[in-house]
Amino acid sequence: MDMQTITARAGNPNMENYEETYKKFNWDDVKENFSWSKTGLVNIAYEAIDKHAENPDKKNQAALIYTAPGREEKLTFEDLKRTSNQFANVLKDHDVEKGDRVFLFMPRSPEFYAAFLGILKVGAIAGPLFEAFMEQAVRDRLEDSEASMLITTPELLERVPVSELPDLEKIVLVGGDGSQHISFEKEMEKASEDFEIEWVDLEDGMLLHYTSGSTGKPKGVYHVHNAMIQHYQTGKWVLDLKEDDIYWCTADPGWVTGTSYGIFAPWLNGVTNVIRGGRFSPDDWYGTIAEHNISVWYSAPTAFRKLLSAGEEVPKKHDLSSLRHVLSVGEPLNPEVISWGLKAFNLRIHDTWWMTETGAMLICNYPAMDMRPGSMGKPFPGIEAAIVDNEGNELPANQMGNLAIKEGWPSMMRAIWKNPGKFESYFINGWYVSGDSAYQDEEGYFWFQGRLDDVINTSGERVGPFEVESKLIEHEAVAEAGVIGKPDPERGEIIKAFVTLREGYTESDELLEDIRQFVKKGLSAHAAPREIEIKDSIPKTRSGKIMRRLLKSWELGLPTGDTSTLEE
Ligand code: WT7
Repeated sequence: MDMQTITARAGNPNMENYEETYKKFNWDDVKENFSWSKTGLVNIAYEAIDKHAENPDKKNQAALIYTAPGREEKLTFEDLKRTSNQFANVLKDHDVEKGDRVFLFMPRSPEFYAAFLGILKVGAIAGPLFEAFMEQAVRDRLEDSEASMLITTPELLERVPVSELPDLEKIVLVGGDGSQHISFEKEMEKASEDFEIEWVDLEDGMLLHYTSGSTGKPKGVYHVHNAMIQHYQTGKWVLDLKEDDIYWCTADPGWVTGTSYGIFAPWLNGVTNVIRGGRFSPDDWYGTIAEHNISVWYSAPTAFRKLLSAGEEVPKKHDLSSLRHVLSVGEPLNPEVISWGLKAFNLRIHDTWWMTETGAMLICNYPAMDMRPGSMGKPFPGIEAAIVDNEGNELPANQMGNLAIKEGWPSMMRAIWKNPGKFESYFINGWYVSGDSAYQDEEGYFWFQGRLDDVINTSGERVGPFEVESKLIEHEAVAEAGVIGKPDPERGEIIKAFVTLREGYTESDELLEDIRQFVKKGLSAHAAPREIEIKDSIPKTRSGKIMRRLLKSWELGLPTGDTSTLEE
């Protein structure tokens, strides 16, 4: 156990005495920060944008600073109120109603944010899809959600099997020539800038994020407006946001970090939000911090590791003195990366732990708390976390087990879309069981140990092995496939596939590359196996389940453990 600590720095005064705040904290007290606590009128988009746009002191503050190769734009809270109102009117004109699923499949852009907020303003449920998804991934998500409308671009539309999606009634194209489908630009031009927000219930749906499990298709994690309570408060105490901060979250809104902390937390706190489009490059990323005077920066270990390996000279070329607070999420934050952060920025990098299903941060390091590098930190006030056994009994300190959270925090998912059985399976004895293993030390710090299921975490993205295996066996040469995550210093894990070949095919570098490309084109680049190994057979249980655990033990040269269920 690494007991080295890095002492606390300045932070929100409320978190200077963590134990005391934890003891007296009550989520009900957070509610008074929202207009609905007085008016009874609920909508997360109102609290994030319109409330500030109606405030003379805030309306002209930049809400969104968009920066991408070839495009720079600044939108105030008032601008965003206007554009999202316009899009809400477009949706109304096209008969979108409360509860309908409206999906977005497009890169980050000012249009994306206007559309996203517009969807919330009509009370519909937004489904943001990562732009790198290929046809199968897009189809699975649109099919399962029964989305009635999709907002996309002409290039990405090519990956949408429109004719095979009976529920998909309408397509809005951003940047098209206006000749086919609904033109975003034409509709926006004629849409009114005034809109009467659809007031909803705190328990009404607002967001569907698809995420991977170890078996079956990706599942739709369903979030409701009530999540704003936790977005707001974690924004204040974990991101340590103050009204004059310039904040940058590097995640795409196709993943939950890009909505909870790329949209809601900063705007609910009235903070200027920088959105960067385009690809990752160390120079551009450091340049973004310097050019926009970023003060609070939320990113991921995989990005930090890339910056680290780009060398110590690159950051020296940029003035990074605006940075005050740096945070990380998505996979374990290596102590080595924290040491690098201290050198590169003279700042601690604060790890935060949570999941798509949890909707917001749960276990974190706080600016005003001593940090133990390698630990995820301590539960946010109002969050009860524990290590439990498989029956849901709490385990003592230093014992490894299931990382679990007492059911009922504000941003908890409310359903798995159309799959109540799956939803139920997360809960044991009043605990939400995360699927991560961890232990808690005597001082209350939590330490991540690994995923318990077969889900792969590559560059901070969860990939279900089943989805990749299904795509692999669609390739004409592949008979069977088993997919695992293989530890990798930069990406956390890489995807490794074991495949058997069909009759008449022989191993060659061309064939392996062809299989790789097939998954990349069919599913997505991040789901394509970096390594493929041909085998004579894939180990399976007698009930036919692929034994990925065994594949992994072989790959890592570990003891194979219990193989009693192995087929001949
Ligand atoms: C899984 C959730 C929540 C946004 C990003 C990922 C892993 C997440 C940490 C951390 C170690 C972490 C867990 C978790 N994970 N944060 N700080 N340390 N592992 O969301 O795609 O739903 O993945 O990511 O395994 O269960 P997600």
